[in-house]
Order: sequence, then C-alpha cells, then structure tokens
Amino acid sequence: MNHFLDINKTDPADLRHMIDHASTMKAARQGLPKGTPDADQPLAGHMVALIFEKPSTRTRVSFDLGVRQMGGQTMVLSGSEMQLGHGETIADTARVLSRYVDLIMIRTFEEDVLLEMAEHATVPVINGLTNRTHPCQIMADVMTFEEHRGPINGKKVVWCGDGNNVFASFAHAAGQFGFDLTFSGPPTLDPERGFLEEARAKGVTVEIERDPAKAADGADLVVTDTWVSMHDSQTARERRHNQLRPYQVNAELMAHAKPDALFMHCLPAHRNEEATDAVMDGPNSVIFDEAENRLHAQKAILRWCLNA
Ligand code: CP
Ligand code: NVA
Repeated sequence: MNHFLDINKTDPADLRHMIDHASTMKAARQGLPKGTPDADQPLAGHMVALIFEKPSTRTRVSFDLGVRQMGGQTMVLSGSEMQLGHGETIADTARVLSRYVDLIMIRTFEEDVLLEMAEHATVPVINGLTNRTHPCQIMADVMTFEEHRGPINGKKVVWCGDGNNVFASFAHAAGQFGFDLTFSGPPTLDPERGFLEEARAKGVTVEIERDPAKAADGADLVVTDTWVSMHDSQTARERRHNQLRPYQVNAELMAHAKPDALFMHCLPAHRNEEATDAVMDGPNSVIFDEAENRLHAQKAILRWCLNA
C-alpha cells in the first residue's frame, strides 16, 4: 500500500520520481484554464476523501483541484461534522471510508490519528499536515527550489523561527534529497532532536545556530513559518512572539544569505511578524510559486499512491 505519510518514510527514488513527474505535469498544463481536464485522466473513476480537522486554504483547494484535473472526484469532509469528531473510532472510520473512497487525505492534530487511519484503511492515506509534520508542503518546496535554482542536492537551507511541523518535514527532506540544513531559533522552540539526528545519519550537515545572521551566511534558501501554529495554545502567543522576534526574516537578514538566495514561506503568513513585506514581496521570494506547486506536487503524490 502506497501511503504518503512522511518524506522520511518514502523511498528517495520515489520522491525524486514524484518531483520530476510534478514538473512534467505542470509544464503540460501551461496556459490552460485551471478547470480544464488534463489530457490523460489517470484518476477517472476514482473518489477521494479530503478530511479536515483544522482550517485550510491551500491544501483544500489544491487537492480538490488536482483530483478534478486528473478526472477523479472529491468529498471534502470537516472532522467536526463527521462521527469521527463525536466518538467513533479512527479505526472504524478508516474501515468504513475504505468501502466508499479510493484514497483518504487527512489533516489532523495528533500524528497518531494519521497513523491509525493508515493502519486500518485498505486504501492509501496521505498526510495533509499533523502537529508534527507537513510532507506535501515540503514536496512542493523542493519542486519550487529546483524550478528556480536546479538540483537542491548539496545546497544550504536555513530555517529561522519555530522548530515546528514544517521544519520537521524540511529535516526529513534534507536527509532524503541530500541538502544541508541550519536551524536558527530560540532554544525553547527547538525541533525534536530526532529529526536532526536522522538527517545527519543520512550524511548531510544539520546545525543549530542561535545567531540568525550567522545562520544565514551562505544560504541558498531561507525559510520561515508562522510563530504560532494551529495546534499551539493561544495563551503562549505573546511569549512566543517575544522569543521569536530576533528571528524575523527581513532585508538585513537576507543580506547575509547568498545574493540569489530564495525566500520561502508555506503560508498563511502573519506579515511583518515572521517575515517583512519587503522580503515576502521581494525579488527572491517564491511564496506564490510554492502555493501553486502544492497542486502539481500533490497530483504526482496522488498518482504514486494510486499507481495511476
Ligand atoms: N500551507 C498550507 O498548508 O496552507 P493551508 O493551511 O491553507 O492548507
Ligand atoms: N506550522 C503551521 C503550518 C500551516 C500550513 C501550522 O501548523 O499551523
């Protein structure tokens, strides 16, 4: 069963195939209205469930559109409106949904919900974000980097801010795609050590540098994300802001990176908090390419999952 649960759980050759396939599919659609069906219809006859237990704009719209372009159909389900949100077990939900649909994409809180869904589903399951990781986003980000700068292998990626779920998938990707990664943030918001150690064990350099200017030195890509994620308690908001303010990505910080360094943010952003408008709308920013590439990368992921 081809579940897409995390980048570190997927074979590097398969990941490479998905990125290249996504680029080919993107090129084939250039200039077409968004609703035009793809020339081939690999998902014809397939039904996909998209389950959201947290808000979403990009994941929801890009998965829905991608399935439709490939000839499939979708059901967008809100966790709170399902029996899942009212006491039915994840295992039973997985078994029931597997009788109705050909693939399940789920955005949820605890990683265990995703893993239990995958364990009991008899159809492929895709991770659309958990508190712990966000693999579809980083597949789009790798695709976006390579579209602009060529192979990401051997490049230096610098993360400024919270050691969150998006960072974790960058750490997975560092090991699988072979790029170096520096985390720069306050010690209180460090990522789990295991993410760093696993990437190091795959032969890449993974560092923690508390000084963001030093961290950015020689960077090919600078990345940040919101200071308060959807699963973070709002009561910690002010404390997080105070701790993370020194790690804001602004023009001064970007000046330490390579002159052609790209800037990425998965969005949604809190403008002028984690990154300034000047950086987000500046010449090195590729934030809207990342958003677009969610569509193409996920189409390749869906096809891999369904052998379609
Ligand atoms: N980047 C991302 O996953 O965005 P949404 O929360 O809008 O899906
Ligand atoms: N870290 C963010 C990413 C949103 C796409 C969150 O989990 O809220």
